[in-house]
Amino acid sequence: MTTFALTGLATMGANLARNVARNGFEIVVHNRTGSRLDGFLERFGDEGPIAGAHTLEQLVSSLERPRTVMTMVTAGDAVDAVIDELTPLLEQGDTIVDGGNSHHRDTERRGAALRERGLRFLGVGVSGGEEGALEGPSIMPGGDADAYRDVEPILTTIAAHVDGIPCCTFVGPGGAGHYVKMVHNGIEYADMQLIAEAYDLLRHGAGMEVPAIAEMFRAWNEGPLDSFLIEIAARVLAQRDDRTDAALLDAILDEAEQKGTGRWTAHDALELGLPLTAITEAVFARSLSAQRELRARAAGRLSGPRPGGDAGGSLVDDVARALYASKIVAYAQGFEQMSAASREHAWDVDLGAMATIWRGGCIIRARFLDRVREAYDADPDTANLLLVDPFTDEVADAQESWRRVVATAVQIGIPVPAFASSLAYYDGLRRERGPANLIQGLRDLFGAHTYRRVDAEGTFHTEWGRDGA
Ligand code: 6PG
Repeated sequence: MTTFALTGLATMGANLARNVARNGFEIVVHNRTGSRLDGFLERFGDEGPIAGAHTLEQLVSSLERPRTVMTMVTAGDAVDAVIDELTPLLEQGDTIVDGGNSHHRDTERRGAALRERGLRFLGVGVSGGEEGALEGPSIMPGGDADAYRDVEPILTTIAAHVDGIPCCTFVGPGGAGHYVKMVHNGIEYADMQLIAEAYDLLRHGAGMEVPAIAEMFRAWNEGPLDSFLIEIAARVLAQRDDRTDAALLDAILDEAEQKGTGRWTAHDALELGLPLTAITEAVFARSLSAQRELRARAAGRLSGPRPGGDAGGSLVDDVARALYASKIVAYAQGFEQMSAASREHAWDVDLGAMATIWRGGCIIRARFLDRVREAYDADPDTANLLLVDPFTDEVADAQESWRRVVATAVQIGIPVPAFASSLAYYDGLRRERGPANLIQGLRDLFGAHTYRRVDAEGTFHTEWGRDGA
């Protein structure tokens, strides 16, 4: 008789279960779709002491008390559904472990509800993607400390080890484990966005070809930048495409997907009043990458810097023009948000009327709101004010000043987060194809998240080569 079970044999669950069994711990596994369970047992059943259960009743009754059942199902409603099914089957002192990327507030709620029924709960962050789950992930358990003590031998054994120290330690009560995993993912978002920007600069700034950039990342990984994401960026960049025999990266759609953990991190930072700027910009960059259709339209309308720039006036004049362009970005973003919220909630907000009532009295009244009103009156579905005359031309005319102001500020060390991020947004919007294809490649490599292609329908997954072959 064993005490440990796992339900949910998708990529992460299956590999974690194999990792447990390979380390000699007895485990009973279950999957809602029976054929997946059968396939799993057939392929991996002899890797260690693994037994299968076709129902949750069977799973629970084959365990010795105190039982621990780990769920590896998609975060959200599916977790509640499994917990609801398991709860009546379990007895006082048994434990449910949620190993998915659940929101920490859900974990708090589930833990409190289970405690009332005499059950224990752990919300456990598991990082490392499919390979990590099998070979040794980093594990961030939170919740009931007593329950953790029961599973500690298993979790610390299956975790990665560095210098003999397991990458697993009890984080804290309630949702602490999932909170820390959420922030891990937020940092992962920033890390990947920075890599995508670095690639973009090398390719379109330094004019390097993709294989040379792969080499550069490989070299960087030998120095202070040495890290998993830099290492796999080199692999993604080096991968050839069977269909085109060119860099696979060029066939990947530049639209970064997201499941929510980055957004939650940013959201929580806003609530805590913390300046989580890099992570939040990375989340917004993914959102902008997803606006492909808008970017395609903007690319044809919004102009970039003139070669050689213009002669330039005084810094004072430049600041005034940069201020005007950045203000337009702020209003454009705000109106876009109201428009999206109006659609989402079916409010039917008249944006032209909003511009009208903001022309006087309110704090953000401004002369150009007249023209905002005209834009929305002419086309209530205006997607973005930057694409509307006269704003398009005005911002284009101001851009050399805008660029000089941001460059000067950076050089003299004056922080200009709003000028700089408004300009980055403008430049991101007018890019028909951005560098989010690299983020998609990274996500597919470490987590089998799949990607879409520019030249074919459907979703794709690649067995990424170690050396780009
Ligand atoms: C990990 C990853 C993993 C998953 C992310 C992807 O630590 O192993 O972070 O949890 O790949 O959730 O998140 P997005 O789909 O939002 O990029």
